[in-house]
Amino acid sequence: MLIEKRLFGTCRQGAVDMYTLTVDSGMSVSIITLGGALVKLLAPNREGKLADVIFGYDDLSSYLGGDGYHGALIGRVGNRICKGKYTLDGVDYQLYINNGQNSLHGGKVGFSHKIWDAEASVVEDGCVLDLTYVSPDGEENYPGTLTVNVRYKLSQDNALSIEYRATTDKKTIVNMTNHVYFNLGGFASGKVFDHLLWMDCESFIPTDENLIPTGEIRDVKGTPFDFNKEKTIGCDFDLSYEPMAIAGGYDHCMNFRAVDDVWAAPRIKARDPKTNREMVVYTDAPCVQFYSANFMKNPNYPFKGGYPQTTQNGFCLETQKMPDSINHENFTDITLDVGEVYETKTVYKFIVD
Ligand code: BGC
Repeated sequence: MLIEKRLFGTCRQGAVDMYTLTVDSGMSVSIITLGGALVKLLAPNREGKLADVIFGYDDLSSYLGGDGYHGALIGRVGNRICKGKYTLDGVDYQLYINNGQNSLHGGKVGFSHKIWDAEASVVEDGCVLDLTYVSPDGEENYPGTLTVNVRYKLSQDNALSIEYRATTDKKTIVNMTNHVYFNLGGFASGKVFDHLLWMDCESFIPTDENLIPTGEIRDVKGTPFDFNKEKTIGCDFDLSYEPMAIAGGYDHCMNFRAVDDVWAAPRIKARDPKTNREMVVYTDAPCVQFYSANFMKNPNYPFKGGYPQTTQNGFCLETQKMPDSINHENFTDITLDVGEVYETKTVYKFIVD
């Protein structure tokens, strides 16, 4: 097991380091301290053959200017808040509008664009990178000083886990995630329509034309969102089905079925039949934003090695609570009070025979 650290670049906020954690199978992950973004994930297929399965950029300026939130930690609140407005304990808050008429992924400068403090260590069964960011009271118009710790761990069993922890000194709202885009054939291998996907999800959340939840929680049965039997991402990619027409594909919150023990079995399985690479996802989050990279088409920000952005060449599985929860009484509770601890964990594990 090995940890390497190098300077990735320097910007106005300061120096940005890149840590690469490697385990004995050869699997490795590279993470930069800007946004805690995953830049590279060399992951094995079932025979142990490695490929870089995530999208990212070669240079710091693309992370600062580019869109897509590639591999980054998202906070305080992931996804859209309708018109950037919410009310907490009778006080109205207005967030920065950065996506149509809404506030997306934490506002103007969310956690994805902050430099995090980092500390790496080798532990018994893997390598760990501990990231810390203290978000000041009122930052981006969220109340309370929020102290956030994220622990990335790459373990000897080829699993990358992300553990989030946050505490506040005033009641606030928190709904964090990571925004990594996968292509299990290797990021430069084209459309993901042939990937097989199984998700233990019983319902999804349709949106209006601004991609804001309508409030409805719809059963997946009989819709393209039913992944309860493994199927390819492409087979029901049906842009005539209204929710998908609005979003240009999959870009929806999927709600996991309630189970007694969330760690007993994966909640998602994804597999690329061409390369025989399989990833399973464990999480204690109640939902996952399944996004088929419908906006991945910005010609100004090519990926690593100059690979162009192309829609549906990747997919995100952003484990989190429901989007715009704070504006829907029937949605998940994303408030965090003084004395409470926000804790959630997601594991992306690669299966080797
Ligand atoms: C959202 C997409 C958005 C993307 C931005 C996803 O979490 O669901 O609608 O375009 O993030 O990168």
